[in-house]
Amino acid sequence: MPLRYTVTAALPYTNGPIHIGHLAGVYIPADIYCRYLRAKGKDVAFICGSDEHGVAIALKAKKEGKTPKQIIDYYDQIIRNSFNSFGIAFDHYSRTSREIHHKTAQEFFKILYDKEIFEEKNSEQLFDPEAKQFLADRFVTGTCPICQNLNAYGDQCENCGSSLSPTELISPKSTLSGAKPILKKTKHWYLPLNKFEDFIQKWILEEHKNDWKPNVYGQVKSWVTNGLKSRAVTRDLDWGIKVPVKGADGKVLYVWFDAPIGYISSTKEWANEKGLDWKPYWCDEDTQLVHFIGKDNIVFHCIIFPVMLKASEQYILPENVPANEFLNLEGQKISTSKNWAVWLHEYLEEFPNQQDVLRYVLSANAPETKDNDFTWEEFQARNNNELVAIFGNFINRVMVLSHKYYNGLVPESGKRFKEDINVLEEMAHLPKKIGDAIENFRFREASQKIISLARLGNKYLADAEPWKLIKTDPERVKTIMNTALQISSGLSILCEPVLPFTSVKLKNMLNLDQKTLGWDAIETKKTLIHPKHLLGKTSLLFQLIDDLQMDTQREKLKKSTLDNYLEEKKLAPLKTKTSYKDFDTLDIQVAEIIQAKKVEKTKKLMKLTVRLDGEERTVVSGIARDFDEEELIGKKVSLLINLNPRKLKGIESQGMILLGENSKGNFVFIGPEDKTIPSGTRIK
Ligand code: MF3
Ligand code: ZN
Repeated sequence: MPLRYTVTAALPYTNGPIHIGHLAGVYIPADIYCRYLRAKGKDVAFICGSDEHGVAIALKAKKEGKTPKQIIDYYDQIIRNSFNSFGIAFDHYSRTSREIHHKTAQEFFKILYDKEIFEEKNSEQLFDPEAKQFLADRFVTGTCPICQNLNAYGDQCENCGSSLSPTELISPKSTLSGAKPILKKTKHWYLPLNKFEDFIQKWILEEHKNDWKPNVYGQVKSWVTNGLKSRAVTRDLDWGIKVPVKGADGKVLYVWFDAPIGYISSTKEWANEKGLDWKPYWCDEDTQLVHFIGKDNIVFHCIIFPVMLKASEQYILPENVPANEFLNLEGQKISTSKNWAVWLHEYLEEFPNQQDVLRYVLSANAPETKDNDFTWEEFQARNNNELVAIFGNFINRVMVLSHKYYNGLVPESGKRFKEDINVLEEMAHLPKKIGDAIENFRFREASQKIISLARLGNKYLADAEPWKLIKTDPERVKTIMNTALQISSGLSILCEPVLPFTSVKLKNMLNLDQKTLGWDAIETKKTLIHPKHLLGKTSLLFQLIDDLQMDTQREKLKKSTLDNYLEEKKLAPLKTKTSYKDFDTLDIQVAEIIQAKKVEKTKKLMKLTVRLDGEERTVVSGIARDFDEEELIGKKVSLLINLNPRKLKGIESQGMILLGENSKGNFVFIGPEDKTIPSGTRIK
């Protein structure tokens, strides 16, 4: 049994607000876990903060003509507010721009430096000759050498999760200027992950074989199988934490080196404010450390940070890293840049005081084992059919009847019948069942177990029919209502981790003390609410959500992506002027697609056979994400036919199809309007 828990939730980047994907993947599960532990009387430090360094923020500032400081201050505030309003009850939320963090991160670097853990290497790195800057992390994109994703970053491929170096990217391109990088010498410090392969092998692949989630374990296993490489932990950048050793002028720590140390500095800040010692929370073996993250963070929390912790020889390692998969929205990947998202601060404006509805829906549909889809239809159904029709309905019946029959005074129970004993017995098993689910990171199951208690209560009332018995057997009704009130009280306690706002509201309705009763009282079948106790006023716990509201949300999504698209189009610079002579060198003809086959082991490439005037050609085009093979056959497209042939995945492509992009960012063909126009027609 651990003596205390240090629970961390991934520090969000302060380069944008928080959306439902973040909430579902990281913050709600972490919050449920911590609320549960607190309810069980455990010593918990629930730690988070803003992640304020790194290229993502520097880039955003550049784009908007602001300083990084302006960007982080702005989003730190928005993010904090969102967490507060959704009841994400961190014990402490710090910022990596604070002095305590800079100091802690520098000390950490020094410890490893003094232990001679790092390799110091002079090597050729990518440099943008136009922006006159080294290109690392998100300053450079290119093709992932492992999974061929065309948009991998210089430090990580978000498609396969691999950690990368910029020089490993195939056809790298600067995100600053679009330029092709050149190579230039520079010095950096590297963390030799390769020397820790045995450690990871033993610690995760053997010791945690059975208790870590398969999605997490599987990723770690495949990296170790491919062999770990040493990774630079310093950067040539002007935004970040200065490297605290000689000969490192103009260099800062890699954001993924400093950010996880933010968990430690945030804990220190919390402990200082509380007059506690922070050390046990990070150094004592009887502390259980758990990191809640999204799946794109696995490599950093399962390999890089643990190697840092291990190498320092003073910190504990995480007991578990329950990473979630991704949440999609209405069938599409959530995308900040395309504005395909439900932003928390906007949700609150449209569904005021309905935080618990979102908390519930995101728990019930959490992307625990695979990517999942959030739809407004499901949101509405879960609210109306589960929260309103089951939970709300049960409580409402109990409250209304208690006020009607007893003026709000809890009636004394007579001798309980078998059916009364059975429901109370079933409720007594729930704390353990819900607890097991939460302790094993099965939050979907936990949310359903909570609703099952309300369902049980509803059924109990429906079977017992106190509204009929009241005329013939009022004594029996007292027992029934007393029992129903015990269930209502149990519900107010057990729903708290998932539905904290509802729990407060319900306890107010029942006039119960917010704190005194715990989960063990339910388990040991104590009386939760006593005879003659005066109930509070009845109010509605949940409200129906109608179709119109959902249509508005769907419309809004569509419109915001369209606005975003138009905005981007406006911002895209016009290309420089060209001459008619140059244009005339392009031979563009109408071509008909007659065969289509997806190129194996790629996500985007489609091999097409097209017909021109009396000639067939093979063309490889990056359209496989947007079109199925079948729907392509017979399409008439515009084809640039005199481009030098190129080999893609070993297939020679003899032409390029002209494409446009619609407001959702999907490709559309720019073909002839008149479909009868023959293949081979010249476009002039
Ligand atoms: N900011 C990162 C992200 O949003 C997460 C950082 S987690 C930490 O993906 F460990 F580095 F803190
Ligand atoms: Zn990849």
